[in-house]
Amino acid sequence: MRGCGRKIGPFECCTVVLGDCEKELQKIPPGSIDLVITDPPYGMNLKPSRKYHRRIHGDDYFPVEMLKRLIKVPRLAAYFFCRWDNLWEHSQLPKPKSVLVWEKGRGGSGDTAHEHSRDYEMVLFYPGCRHKFIGRPGDVLPSFREGNDLHPSTKSTRMVRQMLEWYDFETVLDPYAGKGTTGQATKALPGKHFLGFEIVEEHQKTANWLLEREVPTPRRKRGEHTPPLPFYT
Ligand SMILES: C[S@@+](CC[C@H](N)C(=O)[O-])C[C@H]1O[C@@H](n2cnc3c(N)ncnc32)[C@H](O)[C@@H]1O
Ligand SMILES: [Zn+2]
Repeated sequence: MRGCGRKIGPFECCTVVLGDCEKELQKIPPGSIDLVITDPPYGMNLKPSRKYHRRIHGDDYFPVEMLKRLIKVPRLAAYFFCRWDNLWEHSQLPKPKSVLVWEKGRGGSGDTAHEHSRDYEMVLFYPGCRHKFIGRPGDVLPSFREGNDLHPSTKSTRMVRQMLEWYDFETVLDPYAGKGTTGQATKALPGKHFLGFEIVEEHQKTANWLLEREVPTPRRKRGEHTPPLPFYT
């Protein structure tokens, strides 16, 4: 069965909905989201590392106006993945309460001759009106890695799961869901709910395929290429 049977406004809970989050966000009933954990396009026009990946939709700009709206949505907290240059270029974003560092190991990309290898990303943290941690988490996220065969910009399910464990929450929203990493992490925690939006149908189908089967994201073996999507047909 697709989803958990619950509804969040017009949406099937525990699914990734195909759509533009900028339009769909307004249909979410106020007060129904506890956490936002999302990884928007960074505005880097990232060149995919696999031949069969396409460029990330919307990667020509960092969606600051949308992030400003998203800060106000969750009761507990909003977390936005980004890079340091996003802060430099978008100083109109409200000052976060913390900036987390995801130490991702050898990252690469960027200006390979004149720039340090990009081995970390950042996560902006905005507490909500009912914010409360379980314990006191540190601001460095460990270097969990996950293959990016299914999406050009995958985050680690284990890392997102660790972030979820900082909270006593019910529902998490990921408006830029990709292949559904936040949803996969949520599904691993009993009694928790998730809603995602994804504008690219191929990614939305992949996300729901993974969520329905509860399979871990497949990893490519050395020298072997996962078949290009869609593999779910
Ligand atoms: C950086 S990726 C997220 C990857 C995700 N964290 C994962 O682990 O798979 C950003 C995603 O946002 C999607 N996207 C871009 N603009 C969007 C929009 N307006 N509404 C919904 N999704 C959007 C892109 O297609 C892309 O899959
Ligand atoms: Zn649900």
